[in-house]
Amino acid sequence: HSRALALPDIAACKGKTPIVCLTAYTTPVARLVDAHCDVVLVGDSVGMVLHGLDSTLGVTLDMMIMHGKAVRRGLERALMVVDMPFGSYEESPRQAFANAARVMAETGCAAVKLEGGETMAGTIEYLAARGTPVIAHVGLTPQAVNAFGGYRVQGRGDDGERIRKDANAVAEAGAFAVVLEKVPEPLASRITEEIKVPTIGIGASPACDGQILVADDMLGLFGDFRPKFVKRYAELGEAADKAIAAYALDVRERRFPAPEHLFGDAPRPVQRAKT
Ligand code: KIV
Ligand code: NA
Repeated sequence: HSRALALPDIAACKGKTPIVCLTAYTTPVARLVDAHCDVVLVGDSVGMVLHGLDSTLGVTLDMMIMHGKAVRRGLERALMVVDMPFGSYEESPRQAFANAARVMAETGCAAVKLEGGETMAGTIEYLAARGTPVIAHVGLTPQAVNAFGGYRVQGRGDDGERIRKDANAVAEAGAFAVVLEKVPEPLASRITEEIKVPTIGIGASPACDGQILVADDMLGLFGDFRPKFVKRYAELGEAADKAIAAYALDVRERRFPAPEHLFGDAPRPVQRAKT
């Protein structure tokens, strides 16, 4: 169907049809994703993927709003969600609401996403009650990279209880979906069974109610970043490298532009300087 999806459509997928999600940061990618996916996330991964930052910590609200506006212009059907960047929501529910309201008003997104479990439950409840629906993000939360000391799989062994509590707390607080990042089995399945709202896995489990990847990762556009959980559906980075190499050679050999690319008279043959 081509009607624009709303929050209840996503909620209704739980236990029925897998929710297909990808990131987008630009209008053209949003158009491509919109044709096939249910949820488009303007992720703060944009900082690493498009801006060359080495973590998501330097991403600003203005960056998220700029990319959100671009993505909005490419969407007709998919539900649009924008990540709240580091520092824009953790201080208090009021801070989170002021910034989430700005993101929603300026980008036209349907919901925001923020990282954190039990500690963020109060904030999620506050936002959800004020017209700013929230997707929660638990397990590996990249904005906490300094606290974690890396991007390792979360919830192994006893640590699993922490992730379970986090997922349950945010679901009870009113998050309409929960991203589980790098949460291993059987924990991801167990959480998916336990909570009433959809789980969206990344590096988690096919049992999750939906899946998400960073579009640039699965398209092979983000350099040599090849984590285990990303299936490469294309090698667009390699294709682009070949294309740019061919262009560079054509220019150096004066094969480009060719007559079909030219305006006006045919050019005189170029005399090469003698060396
Ligand atoms: O920023 C992002 O792209 C994300 C998804 C990978 C879940 O948070
Ligand atoms: Na993110």
